Amino acid sequence: MTETIDIIQDQTFLVDTLQGLQSNPKTLPSKYFYNQRGDQLFQQIMQLEEYYLTKAEYNIFDTQKDRILKAFSPHGETFNLVEFGAGDGYKTKVLLEYFLSQKAQFDYIPIDISQHALDGLEESMRHSLPNLSISPMQGDYFEALDQLSHSSDRRNIILFLGSNIGNFSLEQAVDFLSKVRQDIHPGDLLLIGIDLKKNPAQILAAYDDAQGVTAEFNLNLLQRINEELGGDFKVDQFRHYPFYNPVTGECKSSLMSLHDQVVHIEGHSIHFQKWETIQTEISKKYSPDEIEELAKKCGFEVSYHLEDQRGYFVDSIWSAV
Ligand code: AVJ
Repeated sequence: MTETIDIIQDQTFLVDTLQGLQSNPKTLPSKYFYNQRGDQLFQQIMQLEEYYLTKAEYNIFDTQKDRILKAFSPHGETFNLVEFGAGDGYKTKVLLEYFLSQKAQFDYIPIDISQHALDGLEESMRHSLPNLSISPMQGDYFEALDQLSHSSDRRNIILFLGSNIGNFSLEQAVDFLSKVRQDIHPGDLLLIGIDLKKNPAQILAAYDDAQGVTAEFNLNLLQRINEELGGDFKVDQFRHYPFYNPVTGECKSSLMSLHDQVVHIEGHSIHFQKWETIQTEISKKYSPDEIEELAKKCGFEVSYHLEDQRGYFVDSIWSAV
């Protein structure tokens, strides 16, 4: 069974890769960054001096956890704390630990596509927070939410942290968040971590660190295509090139071909011109006004705007209207 799933996933990776590389301009989906090496590199990115996002969100949770609990459960009501794509749960733990110390009544329900990621998270939570009631759900976010909304009348509170929403264009974000809204009830909450528009130099530095970890993270996608799809990318013939547009707030990461060259994948030839790019990721930034507008458009209203001390990042608490 696992083997069948692996084969299906390989084919999706191949189909998505060929489709992206045969488009103009060329693209590759950022979700394929996260193989084992990619997970490791992302862990390293989160430790980088330049990558302010993780530290900012940690600062918000650490300094404002009492406000967050009051927003989630003003009179000690029991709730479901649902997290989309929890990763290693490093930041979430700050909240969970505090909630438990305050004897809050809640189930922690991380949802992820990857059973492997969920197993790791559950193991680490059981070890560090043995009193936590944790019920992981494997699968699609929307199916899991729909199931939860129909199986309990507790308030559902969804965590979507780390500026993961930034990987969507505005249009995709509206589509995604509106679908979330459809699967929950009025009064349910969404806590969403969003990176703010700021000095472009600072944003660019976060996606082009001095040690080159982000460059390696981006280039690892070509390496992965070589390893898993039998591609013949010469990885050193491409350069990591991020660029930021302060009007749209989109920081786009790309891989730039340093020469005219041809790459072969499963019998397909892909031609690159010198300086041609493959766009691999969007990391979109918002202004506070744009966040208000986004919430409204998707059927929510902003209850709280929690910023870190340096004003780089916001965790916004939205209430379903
Ligand atoms: C995990 C999607 C929030 O876009 O900032 C970090 C991924 N890419 N450095 C981001 C990432 C390059 C990250 N997100």
